[in-house]
Amino acid sequence: MSNEIGLGIIGCGTIGNMHADSIARAEGCKLVAAADIDEGVLKALATRHGLERTFSDYHDLLTDPEIDAVTVGVPNHLHAPITLDALAASKHVFCEKPIATTYADAERMANAAHAKGRRLVIGVVNRYADSVNQIKRIVESGDIGEVYQVNIKFKSYRSIPGLGGWFTDKSRAGGGVMIDWGVHFIDLVFYILGAPRVLAVSGQGASMLARDPAKYKFLDMWAAPPNYSGVCDVEEYASGIIRTAGPFINFEGAWACNINEKAMYVDFLGADGGIRLDYGDGFTIYGQNAEFLYETRPVKKDADAYVNEFAGFAASVLSGAPNRADIEEVLPAQKILDMFYESSREGKEIRADR
Ligand SMILES: NC(=O)c1ccc[n+]([C@@H]2O[C@H](COP(=O)([O-])OP(=O)(O)OC[C@H]3O[C@@H](n4cnc5c(N)ncnc54)[C@H](O)[C@@H]3O)[C@@H](O)[C@H]2O)c1
Repeated sequence: MSNEIGLGIIGCGTIGNMHADSIARAEGCKLVAAADIDEGVLKALATRHGLERTFSDYHDLLTDPEIDAVTVGVPNHLHAPITLDALAASKHVFCEKPIATTYADAERMANAAHAKGRRLVIGVVNRYADSVNQIKRIVESGDIGEVYQVNIKFKSYRSIPGLGGWFTDKSRAGGGVMIDWGVHFIDLVFYILGAPRVLAVSGQGASMLARDPAKYKFLDMWAAPPNYSGVCDVEEYASGIIRTAGPFINFEGAWACNINEKAMYVDFLGADGGIRLDYGDGFTIYGQNAEFLYETRPVKKDADAYVNEFAGFAASVLSGAPNRADIEEVLPAQKILDMFYESSREGKEIRADR
């Protein structure tokens, strides 16, 4: 292999376009081809990036020998089958989060990558965010003492995405706000904490605000416009707790709820200090010295984490070195999603050792 990898994009929707833009700027990456079942979005992306090779069936893209690796940016229920097909064709894979709609599928994907000796990296982009890595180093240095509690908020007022499309259809999305936004937060917390052993998860999801999609009023919508004849059978609200062998973790998330507050942060409470990560927007350290309590906030903005993750992907494919977002690293977050949904369904705490 040369000093760059040839990449094919599978899925030219919102994230597929972000993939293409990031690949174009990332070291070690060369965009070669794209595939999508929607001719319109496929042509638009190909034109913008000067791509000559486009495919309406991704199987044809997988036969292209110039393609070393593919990105998978399609609805969640297609992550597993498309990733398995790509691995079978001996391609390395960058698959978007969540890994899959179930932990069982995620394990199948990990096993297939291992058997084929191909890299399978997940798009948990926060692992490539400067702020997240700075916090990880501070926590590991012991500067804020033992972290005993983590509080996670991922709440919006009126932001159900793609109402009536695949995002709100359990058979295609696997779940709602927890699998869509929660996975990012849970994964970054486990990354920072060094994956403490999970003892139990207890949680509850609610699907109340768009039971009749036509009555749901909104301010913004990712993947608009709404399809009022589609289904909405996933949770737009989620809350719960995760007991670990390390810190106690609680979370509250809402694509939408009836309190107008946007709260996107993670608090790490340590015995000697605390850190609030403002999601996507830096962090504040709370500490004290002999004289006074203080608050410190880095001034420098993060570099583009999406570009970083593709540079990291290419580097690990080229060198064979581990990637911080290898599927094995992300499996604990996927397991927590499964335990959350089981807990919500069964109305009880789910223990890891059951
Ligand atoms: N990492 C992030 O920050 C982030 C952000 C947004 C979305 N995502 C993830 O990316 C994935 C896609 O989300 P999106 O917002 O781009 O959705 P989207 O609906 O905008 O795009 C999905 C695309 O997949 C295409 N597609 C469907 N079936 C296909 C098939 N069989 N072959 C080829 N293409 C097919 C659709 O035509 C569409 O263009 C989801 O899993 C989502 O969770 C990640």
